[in-house]
Amino acid sequence: MEIVILPSSDEVGRVAAAQIAALVAAEPEAVLGLATGSSPLGIYAALAREVAAGRLDFGRARGFALDEYVGIPADHPQSYAAVIRSEVVEPLRMNAALVQVPDGRARDIAEACLSYERAIVAAGGIDLQILGIGANGHIGFNEPTSSFASRTRIKTLAESTVIDNARFFDSADQVPTHCLTQGLGTIMEARRVVLVAQGEQKADAIAAAVEGPVSSMCPASLLQHHEHAIIVIDEAAAAKLRLADYYRYVYANKPVWQRVPSIG
Ligand code: GLP
Repeated sequence: MEIVILPSSDEVGRVAAAQIAALVAAEPEAVLGLATGSSPLGIYAALAREVAAGRLDFGRARGFALDEYVGIPADHPQSYAAVIRSEVVEPLRMNAALVQVPDGRARDIAEACLSYERAIVAAGGIDLQILGIGANGHIGFNEPTSSFASRTRIKTLAESTVIDNARFFDSADQVPTHCLTQGLGTIMEARRVVLVAQGEQKADAIAAAVEGPVSSMCPASLLQHHEHAIIVIDEAAAAKLRLADYYRYVYANKPVWQRVPSIG
């Protein structure tokens, strides 16, 4: 794991975005795993500025959303299909036909999940998975005690997740109770993972994920087993890391050949 601690939320977005920009510049047909939620919005905004300036082209990149609510109309502004369209596909000028979201309205949910996994395999796997983290340590909607071997499937949201996500809806009782999410096994097969977190409300989850035991009680801790996971966080989210000074030292002394060019 590489831990990058930055002074501001804005820099979290820019530094994480630089990883994606470098990948897509080198591999225009790269397959991206796309997260929703508030955490990655700075990444998408930074990438959109590069696209608008003509420095980056996502026209051939492919995308797979991490998760989707079950039973929410596709045109509901809080469906992840709608969020991915408005926050990612449109600003990054991606080809919408190359971006998929799990079908939370499928009549046959099990088949929809299998077909999502098949589509990821057919695309050659995910090159880079963007992740946020829930305050309870979830990634995607893999709530605590999710199996490390899990694939895309239906999950029931934890009560704390419903409360956290109520801010996107008029009230908590409008938050769907179920979702489809890539599994932890699916996420671990991505060739690279970039997880972003900002704010003190994520500090416990980040400490557990980075320095705690690998445990399904903190699903993000499984990333300790990933070969190429980068955790990009602000000072507030880093507040409970015991080795924060070491991570800062490592980043400051990162070999030049390992650095990716910074963006806007
Ligand atoms: C959401 C999403 C996750 C996201 C997490 C944190 O419910 N399913 O993909 O990373 O919870 O959300 P936020 O970034 O808004 O804090």
